[in-house]
Amino acid sequence: MTLHWTRAVTDGAARAGVLHTAHGEVPTPVFMPVGTAGTVKAMTADAVRSTGARMVLGNTYHLMLRPGAERVARLGGLHRLMDWHGPILTDSGGFQVMSLSGLRKMDEDGVTFRSHVDGSKHRLTPERSIEIQRLLGADVTMSFDECTPFPATHDQAAASMRLSMRWAARGREAFTPREGHGLFGIVQGGVYPDLRAESVEALTRIGFEGYAVGGLAVGEGQAAMFEVLESTCPLLPADSARYLMGVGTPADLVGAVARGIDMFDCVMPTRSGRTGRAYTRRGVINIRNARHAEDTRPLDPDCACPACRSHSRAYLHHLFKAGEMLGPMLLTWHNIQYYQDLMRELREAILAGTFTQTAARITAAWTEETP
Ligand code: GUN
Ligand code: ZN
Repeated sequence: MTLHWTRAVTDGAARAGVLHTAHGEVPTPVFMPVGTAGTVKAMTADAVRSTGARMVLGNTYHLMLRPGAERVARLGGLHRLMDWHGPILTDSGGFQVMSLSGLRKMDEDGVTFRSHVDGSKHRLTPERSIEIQRLLGADVTMSFDECTPFPATHDQAAASMRLSMRWAARGREAFTPREGHGLFGIVQGGVYPDLRAESVEALTRIGFEGYAVGGLAVGEGQAAMFEVLESTCPLLPADSARYLMGVGTPADLVGAVARGIDMFDCVMPTRSGRTGRAYTRRGVINIRNARHAEDTRPLDPDCACPACRSHSRAYLHHLFKAGEMLGPMLLTWHNIQYYQDLMRELREAILAGTFTQTAARITAAWTEETP
């Protein structure tokens, strides 16, 4: 059987389920740490797994440029190369081409661009993106799409979304079904409900193993993002996984799960960790702040990660001030642990039928900065 999702329980619009993949089962809702270039930055694969993470994300764009998709395949695939033996979802490249590469030229067939690494010229089409993701060994392959920029007029958003739908159909043709592997379609359409509905209609007509909602968290704001989810999620098949791409803050995750999303990825916990921002049960802490210089308390007393179990805020503050690499490592570990703990708590609440109360309690405990 190809990759699929089974629903355990719903609580309002929130869903608990299991994603069945070639590299194991993943309880949902799930947060996938981002392993862009074949590594979750500053973490060993064992460390990532120890946080409870069961699935990670890799990037077509970065890996095709360096070390190259064919080379990854010769080295035994991405799982083996990065020593990650759970499922991997790979993004398709279009989004990263638009945000990172130089001199892009898009046409009906695909996109030509210059590498942000060495300026070399490359081309991605829906077919080549699918091929690269197969060479990497992705459990979940993403359709090649254009992430519509924000703001966009209705006409611009419509043209962009319809191009992504034609690319999605070409990707479906190019994808060879394999046991435990699957292809996800990506809903586009900007902030326009009629375009989102048209996109869902186009994708479900083609048929995918799961459905992502793309083109969000690009500047529209949380309220507009939640509105798109409220109009889009009820249109998606009830028995397929739903993945909100590139989102988000802890508050975004709670709100999106409440509206029917099952899967997430975001650089926020890893990127923030490297710059000294820690997400905790009481809110966000900037460990570089002088107030932590002699604070002997842990970052978060309820967290079991090494940063919280073995170290004081004062030590973590010192590591950042001294530019020691252990600082970013420990805060990355903590943030991933926090995101995993949060998702587990939401899942358990859905299973217990107490999602609304649990979400309200978690959210109420966040303050601007822990005193
Ligand atoms: N990551 C965040 N948003 C998007 C999107 O719209 N498309 C793709 N492919 N990746 C994303
Ligand atoms: Zn911690």
